[in-house]
Formats: sequence, C-alpha cells, structure tokens
Amino acid sequence: MSKGITSGSSARKPTKRAVRDPAEDVVPKVSADESTTQGRLRRAQEIVNGFDLPPKVRLFIVEYQFDPLRFAVEVCGVSPSADQIDLYQAMEPMDAKVSVVSGTSTGKTNSFGRIALWHLLCYPYAVYDGKLEIGSNTYIGAPNLQQVADGVWKEMQDSKIAMANGPHSWLCDYFVITKTRVYVTGFEEQWFVGRVALAKGQSVGIAGKHRWAQLIIVDEAAGVSDDHFDVIDGTQTQPCNRTLIAS
Ligand SMILES: Nc1ncnc2c1ncn2[C@@H]1O[C@H](COP(=O)(O)OP(=O)(O)OP(=O)(O)O)[C@@H](O)[C@H]1O
Ligand SMILES: [Mg+2]
Repeated sequence: MSKGITSGSSARKPTKRAVRDPAEDVVPKVSADESTTQGRLRRAQEIVNGFDLPPKVRLFIVEYQFDPLRFAVEVCGVSPSADQIDLYQAMEPMDAKVSVVSGTSTGKTNSFGRIALWHLLCYPYAVYDGKLEIGSNTYIGAPNLQQVADGVWKEMQDSKIAMANGPHSWLCDYFVITKTRVYVTGFEEQWFVGRVALAKGQSVGIAGKHRWAQLIIVDEAAGVSDDHFDVIDGTQTQPCNRTLIAS
C-alpha cells in the first residue's frame, strides 16, 4: 500500500498546517476588527444567548470539535489504522486542505463517513459579522457520484448503528439519514451532509456555496477536472472551510 496525506492552504498545493488550541473555538468567535461597533457585538452576543444548546451538547462540542480522531474512536467505535489516524489528525485545523494518495481498500471511505458525521455534529452554529449561521454544510463529491456516495452513506449508517450502541447514543436523536441527505432534525436545508456531482463537463453544483463551517470531500479525484477544483478552491474561502481530496 502506498499512501500519503498532505495538508495545506490549497487542495492541490499543500503547505504546512497550523496547530490550534482545541478549546479556542467551541463557538466560533464574532469577528471583531477595528471598525466593528459595540452594538454589533452586543447583538451577536444576544443571538448566541438566544440559541441555547443543552449543557450536554455544549460539553460534547468542547470535547470533539477539534478532534475528529477521538470522535471516530469514542463516538463511532472504530479502531482506525495508522493511515486513518493520520487522516483524522490532518483534518483538525479549521482550514485543513488534505489530499490522500492511496492504493485500493485502505479505508478512505470508512474514514470519510466518520469525518462527515463529525463535521455535521460538532459545528452547531457560528456567529460572525453580527449574524448567526445555523449548522455546518458537508458535500461529498465524485465523478461517479452514485457509487462513491453509496459507499460513504453505508459508512455513515454503520456509524449511526455503532453510535446507538455506545455512550453517545443520545446523539442519534439529533440527526436523520435519508438516501441522499443526512441532516440535523429541523434543519434539513441549513445543516446537512449532501452530495455534489463532479462529472466531466458538468457544471459544479457547489459554485457559490459559502458557509462558515463547510467541508468538501472529493473521492476519485483523479477523474475530476481542474475546472471543478478551481471552483472548489474559490468556494472554500471562509476560516472554517475544510477540503479533503482522495485519488
Ligand atoms: N478501521 C476500520 N475498521 C473496520 N473496518 C474498516 C476499517 N477501515 C476500513 N474498513 C472496512 O474495510 C473495507 C474497505 O475500506 P474502504 O472502502 O474504506 O477503503 P477505500 O480506501 O475507500 O477503498 P477503495 O480504494 O476501493 O475506494 C470496507 O468494508 C470498510 O468498512
Ligand atoms: Mg473508497
């Protein structure tokens, strides 16, 4: 098996990744530059106070928001391989741009399913520029979407079953897995894992999609054209936008 994981600011041009203090961004900060008025900050604080998460959920987010490996092991019950551990850890930075080069059956899709659920469940909202944004968006893309998405979906289903039998079974009440979408109950349009087709010559469904917490996973990247990667790079501009590409 040959496998390499690289991380960087661009999905195709990896650079060194930054290390963050996991406790720092439990709730993403209000962005406050010199020109931000006290009034806007106060308004943002009111919004946060109004979006009251139960203490159990807050604690869960503190523990797992910056630790996808721990989420996979403790919440989804997996025993990851050394390569999978590297992959989970590479996804920690808020702006992770990770490429996985691998042989077949090294456990990529298995990890993608857990990473997608981690991103769904650990980013409940962001407050920035005086506004509240509910949830995270995750997109699974590939040239042969049906096949790849089916694989990731199966892994998410398996994870939910494991979750239901573990110490975090209460999480299962919060989200629904349908054939094409995974979403947090009550927020189907705002807070989800969805699919995006990346076939050659096809316009990119992800163009113009922006979210504070946005994760794009591309499988079978070798069959994805540069045009699509240009769109993805152009879309992933916010501080908590992660991209994971496997070829
Ligand atoms: N840590 C693990 N624990 C248990 N089963 C695993 C683990 N990692 C992978 N598997 C299982 O091994 C099989 C192959 O893994 P997977 O499909 O994730 O590999 P892949 O790298 O995506 O393969 P391909 O290159 O064909 O796309 C799957 O059934 C998957 O669920
Ligand atoms: Mg696979």
